[in-house]
Amino acid sequence: MLQNKNIAVLVSGTGSILEAMLAAEVPIALVVADRECRGLDIAKAAGVETVLIRRAEYGAPLNRDAYTAKLVETLETRGIGLVAMAGFMTILSPSIFSTYRNRILNTHPSLLPDFKGDRAVQDALAAGAKETGCTIHIATEELDDGPILAQEKVPVEPNDTVETLHERIKTVERGIYPKLLKAILAGGIALPEA
Ligand code: GRF
Repeated sequence: MLQNKNIAVLVSGTGSILEAMLAAEVPIALVVADRECRGLDIAKAAGVETVLIRRAEYGAPLNRDAYTAKLVETLETRGIGLVAMAGFMTILSPSIFSTYRNRILNTHPSLLPDFKGDRAVQDALAAGAKETGCTIHIATEELDDGPILAQEKVPVEPNDTVETLHERIKTVERGIYPKLLKAILAGGIALPEA
């Protein structure tokens, strides 16, 4: 059972899924971004606490362990119990799972296990897929892996570009991710023990 219902959302970009969560009145305690982005502005405008942990300040190549340690410290000091990644583009180091095992969710724009990685929409188009979709899953040490909580198909239309297809997928993500979070908070969907 989810004991601590304080939710943090992690963003890097447009933040339209975060926006949908806020519109659906998902109680969000904190938004963390790894770069300046619209997602941060959305959170601030909604009066949600924001923290920017710039990945650019953690070296090139990224010192993933140091970045992850800072993020975990940020989450822990604010009493966060559940983390929802929504377009967060930094891969975290496995150390986060010693604190947040089974407590980090992610949304991915494909029908996992198909098209993992950050080019999921391009790859589905390039493969000539007739349908793709989105998947919300529990994050694990393996990228775009872990138990699937929700998945929905999206058709690929003949003249789709990456943008049109991704927007069709995101429209679905904006519907199912807030609903899933609310179901988890209400106890209707149980996450595995932490
Ligand atoms: C979503 O498609 C998500 O699956 C992917 O990044 C996109 C985030 O969109 N990882 P937005 O920033 O919420 O608009």
